[in-house]
Order: sequence, then structure tokens, then C-alpha cells
Amino acid sequence: MIYLDNSATTNPKPINVINTTNFAMKKFSFNSGRGGYKESVDTSAKIYEVREKTANLVGVESQNVAFTSNCTLALNMAIKGILNYGDHVIISGLEHNAVTRPIEALALKGIITYDIFQYSYDKEVILKNIKNLIKPNTRLIVCTQASNVFGCKMPIEEIGHLAKENEIAFIVDGAQGAGVFEIKQKDANFDVYCSAGHKGLYGPMGVGFMAVKDNLKLNTIIEGGTGSSSLKLEQPDFMPDRFESGTLNNSGIIGLGAGIDFVNKKGINNIYSHEIDIIDYIYDELKDLKNVTLYTPSPRNFDTAPILSFNFKDYSSEKTALMLADKSIAVRAGLHCAPLAHVSFKTENRGTVRISPSVFTTQKHAEYFLNTLKKLA
Ligand code: ALA
Repeated sequence: MIYLDNSATTNPKPINVINTTNFAMKKFSFNSGRGGYKESVDTSAKIYEVREKTANLVGVESQNVAFTSNCTLALNMAIKGILNYGDHVIISGLEHNAVTRPIEALALKGIITYDIFQYSYDKEVILKNIKNLIKPNTRLIVCTQASNVFGCKMPIEEIGHLAKENEIAFIVDGAQGAGVFEIKQKDANFDVYCSAGHKGLYGPMGVGFMAVKDNLKLNTIIEGGTGSSSLKLEQPDFMPDRFESGTLNNSGIIGLGAGIDFVNKKGINNIYSHEIDIIDYIYDELKDLKNVTLYTPSPRNFDTAPILSFNFKDYSSEKTALMLADKSIAVRAGLHCAPLAHVSFKTENRGTVRISPSVFTTQKHAEYFLNTLKKLA
């Protein structure tokens, strides 16, 4: 199979991730933070190591990283942890349902109101669009680091600066950003950065994280046993315990640590240039095919993640994806759980076919995909 659906999850996983995850099932299948015996203590230390690696990736203190089961849960915890009755929220027109649905749910309950700012290829226009929506009760801006459908990268640093200037909290959805772009809390001024472990960080599925800036107090949406302050019926108020109730996914977290090692060893920028070269090549070939509709400028001409959307003839995106699947090519079609992004690009009726390479995608894979598509014409 030629796998071009790495925005959904990277595949294959690096061999060190597979081996480390397997090994962790044996060596670290003990409950961390719950026992004084050596195996439990060693397991806690190993998880702490991964916490440190994750924290270094985004420039926060190690204890301020809480592991979750995925990015969606991390975003729910961050959004609902910050917002209170009467707050106003601003989100981008490229958000995934992991952001829009929790926001919409709060709005439907009458707890918050929200507005959507329009994406533009010009970052000054994005900033102007956000400024125009700020109200006295605006408490939060939530923004994706990059669109999971069209790749468009958001000017996170500038938005973070604007949020800080206006004393508005800022959450970044890094599902498509972690391991693809460098990001540090001190530059991006985020209050919370949420991401998945199984995409650009090459870890196993079932692990995500929420990285919180120092001294930010968030409400909880999940409470339970943490192995700490157990006499108190109240949830601990310190990180990471406050947000890690229940037994952790040790092998997944430890596998994520191996994924981060893999990314650090290759270098985020090297991985990015490999992937963007492939997207560039595919874009250049596709733009000359009369049966193909593209939706963005060439990747050379705008800030983008290595993600590309297109449509073929007048087919539905699902039909094209099925035809490709028939030739052993895996892509994702439809709305990609991001209806706002499709509305922004006027593709909501048809969806798009999305291509997303990883560090393991080769020029030959790209050629096979292109030759197959040309034969379908
Ligand atoms: N959010 C993932 C994607 O974009 C699953 O495909």
C-alpha cells in the first residue's frame, strides 16, 4: 500500500517506537505514582522522562505537561478548563471539530458566545480579522497551528502576541503541528498547547498531551484518583496530577518518548523539508492536469504544512479516494472532521481528497500516486 494519510496517523511507525512500546508492555506494566516498590517507581521515572521530552519540545516546565488519551480530550480539557459563564471566544475558520464541537456545546448551553475569524494568506489580514472580533468579554482565542485539510499554517506567534496584549487566553491545537513545526511557549505566548502523540511525533495511538504555561489555573472536567493528596476529596491543584486522573497508558506514553527521540534525531526542519518537497512535487504535477482542481497556491508560495487537498473531474471526493484505494493508495476524502475549513474554501458540498506524506514517503510513492491518477483520467 502507498500510504498518503499521515495527517490521520503516521504509518509506518519507526522501528524504535515499535520496539520501545513493546518493551514497555513488559518492563513498565506497573502503576506509576501508586506504589513504593521499585517497578512502580521506575515506571514513574520513565514516564517523567517522556514528560520532560514533551515539555522541551514546546518550551514549558516538565510538570506542566499532562498526558491524555488524545488531542481531542486535551482540547476539551483546555477549552472547558478556561471558560466561564458569560465569556466570549474567537476561533479560526479552519478549526477541526475537536475545537468547534466543545465550543458549540458550551454555546448551546448558553455558557459562552463565540465568533469565527476568516483565514487569509496574508497574516496582517488574519490579525485584523481577529482584532475586529475582540469584545470586552473575550476570554479566549483557539486556533489550529495548521489546517488538517488545506495545510494552511496560522501565524501562531503573532496571534499569541495579540492575545497577550489584550489579556486573552490562547489555546493552540497542535494536532498537525507537533513534530512538523518548531514551537516554543516563550515565542508563541500560548496558554495551552494540545497535540496528539501519533501523528507528527510518530508515537502510538491513544496518547495526547496538554502543555500548560506556568501558573495557569485551569478548572477540571475529569476528576479521580491520582495517587497523590488522597485524603482530600478535592482534585489536587498541582500539575500534572490535576489533569491525570486514573491509570495512564504507560506503553503508549513511553512509545511517544521514542517517537520524540526519532523526530529529534532526524530534526524537525529536515523532516519538514523532506515532506514539503514531496508535496511541492505532487502539486506541480497536479496543477498541469486538466481534470484536477487544486484549492491553495503552490506550497512554495505560502506558509503551509505538508498537506494538500484536491478534487478529480466532477467526482465526489469519496469516489476518487475509493478509486485510489482500489489501486492500493490510501488517502482521506470527505470533510476530515473540519467543516469550517471546507466552508472557508467552499468545498463543503463535495469535500476534498487529501494527501499527507510522512518522513517515510518517497519520491517513488509520489510518482506511483501521480501515474495512477493520470491513468484514471
Ligand atoms: N484529525 C485527523 C485527520 O485529519 C484524524 O484525519
